[in-house]
Amino acid sequence: MPESVKQGFTLRRPSLDDAAWIWRLVRETGVLDENSSYAYLLLCRDFAETCLVAERDSQLVGFVTAYRPPSRTDVLFVWQIGVSSMARRQGLGLLMLTELVSRCRCEGGYGVSFVEATVTRSNQASQRLFASLAKRLQARLVHGEGFRQTHFRFGHHEAEPLIQIGPIADG
Ligand SMILES: CC(C)(COP(=O)(O)OP(=O)(O)OC[C@H]1O[C@@H](n2cnc3c(N)ncnc32)[C@H](O)[C@@H]1OP(=O)(O)O)[C@@H](O)C(=O)NCCC(=O)NCCS
Repeated sequence: MPESVKQGFTLRRPSLDDAAWIWRLVRETGVLDENSSYAYLLLCRDFAETCLVAERDSQLVGFVTAYRPPSRTDVLFVWQIGVSSMARRQGLGLLMLTELVSRCRCEGGYGVSFVEATVTRSNQASQRLFASLAKRLQARLVHGEGFRQTHFRFGHHEAEPLIQIGPIADG
């Protein structure tokens, strides 16, 4: 799908040239797990159809990385979402998620019916964001186990409980 302009933001699929900017934005959030820049190159090359970037004044101000788990292709699993500090609380997080869900339901008959993510209990902004998404999609939000603290084993990492939104109704 071509780029679209909504609420003053340009939304489009990422390209390889976006990977380093996504990596930098991840670091700037100070909250998201920092992965290697190589990981974002792979996402922008091989998973671009289920990822999205947002620009304002030709600057990358937001991104969502997501994929469809191979054994559960009706799920869109949101891996990371970030909005630069200057663009927060302006509806961009919700806009990117609704746009990505809509693209994944329109394009190529993906048949995405559920959105999943894991969110730490301390991340109130993200908890609120996914609650807003469920409301917008008029779908149920349920909590699951996700990843326990012990799954991370080495070093400190908060537990990452699962959030599942769906089934998403047509229309
Ligand atoms: C989480 C994040 C992506 C939200 O992006 P955003 O563009 O500011 O969110 P939106 O403006 O679309 O807001 C969506 C909802 O969340 C609420 N919200 C956003 N930030 C919030 C905050 N800091 N505290 C409480 N609620 C918040 C908004 O009020 C809105 O709720 P409403 O629909 O009931 O009015 C952004 O804060 C961010 O990048 N944080 C750092 C990275 C991160 O934590 N990512 C998520 C990890 S899973």
